[in-house]
Amino acid sequence: MKTVTSIPGMEDLARQWRKDGRRIGFVPTMGYLHEGHLSLVRASKGRDDITVVSIFINPTQFGPNEDFKEYPRDLGKDSAYLGQAGVDVLFCPDAAEVYPPGYRTYVEVEGLQDRLCGKSRPGHFRGVATIVLKLFEIVGPARAYFGAKDAQQVLIIRRMAADLNLEVEVVTCPIVREPDGLALSSRNAYLSPDQRKAARVLSTSLRWAEKAAGAGERDAGRLLAGIRSVIEAEPLARIDYVEAVDPGTLEPVAEVRAEVLVALAVFVGSTRLIDNIRLRG
Ligand code: PAJ
Repeated sequence: MKTVTSIPGMEDLARQWRKDGRRIGFVPTMGYLHEGHLSLVRASKGRDDITVVSIFINPTQFGPNEDFKEYPRDLGKDSAYLGQAGVDVLFCPDAAEVYPPGYRTYVEVEGLQDRLCGKSRPGHFRGVATIVLKLFEIVGPARAYFGAKDAQQVLIIRRMAADLNLEVEVVTCPIVREPDGLALSSRNAYLSPDQRKAARVLSTSLRWAEKAAGAGERDAGRLLAGIRSVIEAEPLARIDYVEAVDPGTLEPVAEVRAEVLVALAVFVGSTRLIDNIRLRG
C-alpha cells in the first residue's frame, strides 16, 4: 500500500489510473478505523480496480465546542489494517494543504443539512459536503462508499452528487454493529465501561420500534414515545433527538405507511452517539 500525503501526488496517481481505464473505488474516513470502515473497504475491493481510502479529520465539520482536538487517532494501526485489507492507496492530506490561507468556498445542501443532526450541529454538513466534494475532485472515483449509520450524511452526499452532476456512483453499505447491537463508531472509544453498557440503549430502543411496527403499530408519535421511554429508563443517556422522517426529504412523518427512517442521537455522558433504522409500512 502506498501512503500519499500531497494533493498533487494523489491527483497524479489517480489521473494515471483513469487514463489506463482503471476504475477507482473511494472510501473517505476520519480514521481510527473499525469494522464499519473496513466493510466499506471490502465492498470496494470486491468491485473496483483500485481502492483508495482517505483519512482526514476534517476541521470544518466540527463545531467550536465539539471534539475536533480529542478526536481519536492512530495512523500506525489504521495503515496496518488498510495494508492487510489490500488497499492500494492511503491518502492522508494535511489540513494546511486542504484549507490553505484564503480558503473561501463551501458546499451547502439546503434544507437537508438543517434537519436531524444539522439542528444540533449547525455547519456540520456544510463541512462534510465541502470536504467530500474536494476529495472527489482529487481522487476522481467511479464509486464512493458510505455507511448507512450516517443516514443523513449519505443522503446529503447523494443529493450533492446529483445536483452537481458528479460522475461518481454513491454506494451505501449496511450498519456494522457490535454483538450487543451498538453501532460501531470511532467515538465509542470515549465511553467508560459503564457508559459502554448504557450505550446499548440506542439500538435496543430502535429494535423495540421495529418490533412494534412489525406488530402493526403505524402511529409515528406512539413509536417515538416508546423509543424515548426505553432511552429515558437509562440514567446515563440523554436524548438529543428522536425522529421519524421521510428517508428522501427528512421531513417528519405522522404514520409508517411507506418507508420511514427512524433516526436518533443520544448523549451518553458527554459522548454523542447516533443510530437509525428503516421501517416499512
Ligand atoms: P467517519 O466517521 O470516519 O466514517 C467514515 C465512513 O464509515 C462513513 O461513510 C460512515 O458512515 C462509515 N461508518 C462509520 N461507522 C460505521 C458502521 N458502524 N457501519 C457502517 N459504516 C460505518 O463519516 C465520516 O467519517 C466523515 O464525515 C467523512 C465522510 C469522512 C467526511 O469527513
